[in-house]
Amino acid sequence: MTVEPAPRLLAGYQATGRAADLREHLSRYGPAPFSGHGSRARAGAWPIGPVEEAGLTGRGGGGFPMARKMRSVAASGRPAVVVVNAAEGEPLSGKDRLLLTVAPHLVLDGAALAAYAVGARRIIVCVHGSGDAAAHLETAVAERAGAGLNAVPVEVRRIPGRYVASEETALVNQINGGAAKPTFTPPRPYERGVGGLPTLVANAETYAHIALILRYGPAWFRACGTADAPGTALFSVSGAVVRPGVVEAPLGTSAADLLRLAGGPADPLQAVLTGGYGGTWLTMRQAHTPTTPAAFAAAGAALGPGIVVALAARACGLAESARILRWLADQTAGQCGPCVFGLPAIAEDFAALAAGRAGPALHRRLRSRVAVIPGRGACRHPDGAARFAASALRVFGPHLDAHERPGGCPPARRPSLLPARWGT
Ligand SMILES: Cc1cc2nc3c(=O)[nH]c(=O)nc-3n(C[C@H](O)[C@H](O)[C@H](O)COP(=O)(O)O)c2cc1C
Ligand code: SF4
Repeated sequence: MTVEPAPRLLAGYQATGRAADLREHLSRYGPAPFSGHGSRARAGAWPIGPVEEAGLTGRGGGGFPMARKMRSVAASGRPAVVVVNAAEGEPLSGKDRLLLTVAPHLVLDGAALAAYAVGARRIIVCVHGSGDAAAHLETAVAERAGAGLNAVPVEVRRIPGRYVASEETALVNQINGGAAKPTFTPPRPYERGVGGLPTLVANAETYAHIALILRYGPAWFRACGTADAPGTALFSVSGAVVRPGVVEAPLGTSAADLLRLAGGPADPLQAVLTGGYGGTWLTMRQAHTPTTPAAFAAAGAALGPGIVVALAARACGLAESARILRWLADQTAGQCGPCVFGLPAIAEDFAALAAGRAGPALHRRLRSRVAVIPGRGACRHPDGAARFAASALRVFGPHLDAHERPGGCPPARRPSLLPARWGT
């Protein structure tokens, strides 16, 4: 079967090669569905039903049903706040930056529609402080202000590039004047978030899908993807492929097919990383798993925010994993035991494995460390790191012998073959 890209969010950009300013956006999609609504948003001014029927799930990593989250916020009956998470903290993700650059008005339309649906009086878009995406976003917000489209006021908040700074409670904490660190839950943002108000936090791409669902309807949205994972998603595909880049494809497309959409392997491959640094390694056989939450859960894998990275056969997967685990250990907010003690210990154990300094005791200790970490931190950062480490042991375990032989594994001593971050 031939796999085709399915441009929806990226259709305009792919047809014209141009980023859409407001004029181009309106000529492509028609007037914003909410124009004419005032600023006194009250819950129910726009329906949540179509988002529910469409089966839209969050595209920021967790895959939570969006309508359920919106209903929880709307149910309080209090004025709410909408937060757009466009910070894109995952180093190997580039999709949100692309979206903000080429189709920012889809994100902003979706956020405005969500604001009317949940009764929000304020929209805050959080974006990485440096880089072009923040500037594109600010230009788009100003264009809309000039056209009277910001009836629910929109603020752009630049946040630090640190990994955990873009976790949802960390965003809320920063907006409330606190540190760029996750906070303990409950309360979750939908209960008490920005200014103590119920707060809807979702990924930039998730809001952009809402803009299209409320224009074209749930049946249109479901025409792509699978029954349990409808619609398209943006996938950041990198590593050993011919054309690294962002690909829009139906959910359910396998990682192997996504690599084909990125021009195919540029080298013989040994494994694929899905979900980014907080994700999982897959063997090439597992790379045929459909990208649906159910199929990935059955494979013990993480779909995360649509990241697919091809690892060349000439790389050392253990050494690559050791580098990533070191990075993850350095990113913690330093306030919970599993992060402060567990992640550095796992990173050191992996460094010893990669250097061929591991004995049976280290293997046993590492497996038990990886097993006890999940579910013990204030946020899911340590869970993602432990899951990543477990997948590295599963996929590259057969390669351990090579490290323990005299002379070790030569590729482990060479520079990394994985990009350190998107675009490098
Ligand atoms: C360490 C960490 C970093 C995160 N970084 C991001 C991020 O950069 N962008 C994002 O959308 N979600 C990120 N998330 C997930 C958010 O906390 C939240 O679940 C998400 O914004 C909800 O959006 P969604 O429902 O549309 O997926 C991160 C989570 C963790 C644990
Ligand atoms: S689990 Fe780790 S990253 Fe998350 S809040 Fe605790 S110390 Fe910070």
